[in-house]
Amino acid sequence: MKKKAHKTRRQIQAAKALIAKKRVDDANALVDPLATLQSFHSYVAKDNSRIEIVCKRIKDIPPEILSWIFDLMERNMKQLYKQSSWGWDSTTKQNEMTEPAAWYLIASCEGEHIGFSHFRFDMDNGLEVLYCYELQLEPSARRKGLGRFIMQALESMAFQTLMQKVMLTVFKHNALAIPFFHALGYKLDNTSPPVAENLGYVILSKQNLCRGPVD
Ligand SMILES: CC(C)(COP(=O)(O)OP(=O)(O)OC[C@H]1O[C@@H](n2cnc3c(N)ncnc32)[C@H](O)[C@@H]1OP(=O)(O)O)[C@@H](O)C(=O)NCCC(=O)NCCS
Repeated sequence: MKKKAHKTRRQIQAAKALIAKKRVDDANALVDPLATLQSFHSYVAKDNSRIEIVCKRIKDIPPEILSWIFDLMERNMKQLYKQSSWGWDSTTKQNEMTEPAAWYLIASCEGEHIGFSHFRFDMDNGLEVLYCYELQLEPSARRKGLGRFIMQALESMAFQTLMQKVMLTVFKHNALAIPFFHALGYKLDNTSPPVAENLGYVILSKQNLCRGPVD
């Protein structure tokens, strides 16, 4: 009797995993996951500048935009990586950023690129998730609500594609990002390493996803 119940539980788990995997595959098969979310195609920032947002697969990003993405990543993050046990290795980072599974949101103002997010639809510990690998803004584009807006766009895409949550990894010593993600309601994910391990990063997530821009 006990054995049968156990098998049934396993079968339920296997069925859930199949559904989760199919959701990830379906999301990755979309031509543009932002296409139907029109409220996220542009943003009027706190200084009244108008910002356009596009969503692209890595393979569709022109080389000059990719160079800017690498450059901004390095300008924003090199020091923080060097201060961590991971260190900074631009080749490894660029390889990760150009893996075929990578999707990008790119924000531009008057033809100038001012921010991007690298994200993926993926399985994480058996769950279908939208993983935010990067959120990087030019210094001049910060504190105008754009970071919040891009995260809301990710949350809406996750909601629309039936992902369970939006996840991200952040250095504990990233003094800009920690208060930002907390202000947006991100909490310690249950897969984050135990505090006792004293690692330099935490995994945050949000499960109650919004469907549109929220002030
Ligand atoms: C982190 C980052 C994306 C935030 O984007 P942003 O557009 O500046 O943030 P927003 O203007 O949307 O801020 C939303 C809220 O987050 C909080 N916040 C944002 N930046 C903050 C800061 N430097 N200090 C304290 N709180 C901050 C505030 O509560 C803010 O609301 P408010 O402006 O109404 O007070 C941006 O600072 C950045 O690109 N940093 C460098 C790259 C980086 O560290 N990326 C994260 C890697 S995991």
